[in-house]
Amino acid sequence: MNFPNLIDGRAIATQIQGELTQRIAALRSRGLQPGLAFVRVGEDPASKVYVGRKEKACAELGIISETHVLAEATSEADLLALIAKLNADSRLHGILVQAPLPKQIRQEVVYASVAPTKDVDGFHPVNVGKLMLGDTGGFLPCTPAGVRELLVRSGVKTDGAEVVILGRGNIVGKPMAAMLCQKGRAANATVTICHSATRDIKAHCRRADIIVAAMGVAEFLKADMVKPGVVVMDVGVNRVADPTAKTGSRLVGDVAFAEVQLIAGKITPNPGGVGPMTIAMLMQNTVRAAEMVA
Ligand code: GUN
Repeated sequence: MNFPNLIDGRAIATQIQGELTQRIAALRSRGLQPGLAFVRVGEDPASKVYVGRKEKACAELGIISETHVLAEATSEADLLALIAKLNADSRLHGILVQAPLPKQIRQEVVYASVAPTKDVDGFHPVNVGKLMLGDTGGFLPCTPAGVRELLVRSGVKTDGAEVVILGRGNIVGKPMAAMLCQKGRAANATVTICHSATRDIKAHCRRADIIVAAMGVAEFLKADMVKPGVVVMDVGVNRVADPTAKTGSRLVGDVAFAEVQLIAGKITPNPGGVGPMTIAMLMQNTVRAAEMVA
């Protein structure tokens, strides 16, 4: 399956990691090795896979990483105490607390407790605020930053483009909208956010030059909802039943890929599109965090 309109997220992520290798070598020549701490609470199978991939990327690049695994029943106070220790550890330049967190822990309290200068997830209110204000000194959340980088490196012009974002979540939808409507490079788009209360999603999508699908509904975006030549970025990761698969299920995106790719001008495969970029952007944020103290 090698269609000319595919945006190859793996290849672009590899290119970015090559660029980071040089920045890491420059840091090491000054006696500094970037360090990143992962915190995982409980045994969510998807979180284990995601943290495992991020650890592997660190190892490949020469970023020191350490992973703290806490029990599902951990109290919020104990998690905050660990984060305070990591905030104070000068070997660590980034801290990532993997979501989702157990019910007894308030996610917003946890993310606000990470030092903004080590918030390589871009979830701290200070970094969210900087994004809204157009202050480029903060950290951008990795998934929307990865989508934007894919657009840039695939030669997709956002200037004046009609962009429709499906989903209004804090991790992707809202920050993606803030990034693309900003005045400046790789931005300047007219952005519409669609969500569960939007009256006619199809009408919005059919007008779009670029669609970012991030609402978490399996294969939601169909061919009759898009115009020819549209650029489609599929952020979705949904597990659906599949009796023909060995495990009884498989992962699909928010886009009905087989039909939409026949019409799209460019489209991300899924897997192999946005996913690898999320990790590349996390590595980039960590290297930047280390450069900021170097
Ligand atoms: N869970 C799903 N996506 C993310 C992410 O980007 N960062 C963290 N920390 N947890 C997540």
